[in-house]
Amino acid sequence: MSEILLTGGTGYIGSHAAVELLEAGRDVVIVDNLYNSEAAVIDRIEKITGKRPSFYELDVTDKAAMESMLAEHDFSGVMHFAGYKAVGESVEKPLEYYRNNIDSAVTLLELMAEHGIKSMIFSSSATVYSKSDKVPYVETDPDTGCTNPYGWTKYMIEQIMKDAAAAHPEMSLVALRYFNPIGAHQSGLIGEKPNGIPNNLMPYITQVAAGIRPKLNVFGNDYPTPDGTGVRDYIHVVDLAKGHLKALDYSEQNTGFEVFNLGTGNGVSVLDLVKAFERVNDIKIPYEIAPRRAGDIATCYADAHKANQILDWHAELTIDDMCRDAWRWEKQQRGL
Ligand code: NAD
Ligand code: UD1
Repeated sequence: MSEILLTGGTGYIGSHAAVELLEAGRDVVIVDNLYNSEAAVIDRIEKITGKRPSFYELDVTDKAAMESMLAEHDFSGVMHFAGYKAVGESVEKPLEYYRNNIDSAVTLLELMAEHGIKSMIFSSSATVYSKSDKVPYVETDPDTGCTNPYGWTKYMIEQIMKDAAAAHPEMSLVALRYFNPIGAHQSGLIGEKPNGIPNNLMPYITQVAAGIRPKLNVFGNDYPTPDGTGVRDYIHVVDLAKGHLKALDYSEQNTGFEVFNLGTGNGVSVLDLVKAFERVNDIKIPYEIAPRRAGDIATCYADAHKANQILDWHAELTIDDMCRDAWRWEKQQRGL
């Protein structure tokens, strides 16, 4: 069977997708410039699966280098994870975000058209719904635009994919709108490795649990939610990775542009997640109520019916699984 190219495949979500693809018998080639990950992830993927993906350290925006890599392989599909992902940083450095995220997507689509590669699965985000005013978010919700440059890169890349699919009817381009991926592989060998102080909730909780930070700041308890804290749709990264395999199967049998939410459909508050983490791992997480974080919304969760029905995909792992696996990964990294 022909190979699948994973850009950004040594990163958090890409490495989990690599494991699922290899375990499903697919041949995987990873391209990553190691801007936000390390080459040792390849060894860990091999340790989990017993198979070693090919790896190229290169930048997806470097078209000549990508051409040389492509000449050595026979790809039928691409999963495009590579990109910058920090919302706050994108406000400070919008041009770097537009350059890297848009350029890498356009370069890949050009290469796909030139080399007859049919399928692309793209990492989009629920952030494209952030100006919508009703939950759950459905793929058919009207376009309301985004609130930050990171979100706009996802929005624009979806539009570029739609236009490319219309002009290249043989192609099958799928955008997956992720909700809040957390957790780690059950092996404890791969997971999320934030640089510096974590922005996101679960890595912050695991660092408090590890004693690296004294307490969690809960950003606001006066939202219109059951306990006043923000509500999100947390999804286990392994379930998310499995969704990519289903999306790949779908894209191999179809053409055109399609978008799917990948979420559980359940809303969980900040305090719900803290309590679950404490219970499952038997660790106290000291916290303090802090002011709301600028740009945050009260509630965000998916309507996941489209992926459930068309992709035959359902999130299976629970909040307890997410808390247990995130903590196992944190302990493994810290040698605890
Ligand atoms: P990550 O930073 O762990 O992985 C991205 C990888 O891409 C990194 O290994 C980085 O080195 C690489 N990369 C960046 N620019 C590159 C380039 N030009 N060429 C080659 N490699 C490059 O991030 P992640 O959490 O695994 O996210 C993967 C994708 O999913 C991103 O596109 C992100 O925007 C999207 N996404 C993530 C989340 C989330 O919460 N993690 C939510 C929604 C969408
Ligand atoms: C963030 C991104 C979003 C991205 C998503 C995916 C921002 C503004 N948005 O969203 O684009 O798609 O991650 O993972 O960064 N919280 C605390 N204390 C903390 C950290 C978070 O109380 O130290 C709260 C937040 O206010 C929020 C919830 O926890 O209610 C989840 O926050 P986070 O993990 O950062 O995710 P999002 O804000 O949903």
